[in-house]
Amino acid sequence: MKIAIASDHGGYELKEHLKKYLEGRNIEVLDLGTHSEESVDYPEYGRACGEAVASGKADKGIVCCGTGIGISIAANKVKGVRCALCTDVHMAEMTKKHNNANILAMGGRTTEPEKAEEITAAWLDTEFEGGRHQRRVDMLDQM
Ligand code: RB5
Repeated sequence: MKIAIASDHGGYELKEHLKKYLEGRNIEVLDLGTHSEESVDYPEYGRACGEAVASGKADKGIVCCGTGIGISIAANKVKGVRCALCTDVHMAEMTKKHNNANILAMGGRTTEPEKAEEITAAWLDTEFEGGRHQRRVDMLDQM
């Protein structure tokens, strides 16, 4: 599995932390930047991750900004992206089970690194339930 990861400056530190976590799980990581804490614009990085996932260049994606809000909005502008901002493990499990979220968003200034690992693990290790949820996910993908 390959995961595209992207952040702005507000999510940079968390992105770097999660990169190591993913590599520790033997997951290939496609780092789309940013590469420092210098101020950048989150829409560009959300779009880059969204496009990588929508095009199949990566299987899934993770995006981080200060709150996770702006970059999740940007990623969701790309057709085929279902990006979910999660602040706890329950949300991560539910968004995989019901929405089959293909990008996970978290906030570098709102979520501690250890919590972000737990959220990431829950999202990666939970299966989509399909069934009645498939029809709704299909509706999302038609929008
Ligand atoms: C950047 O200061 C900040 O606005 C950004 O990281 C993010 O929180 C936006 O939603």
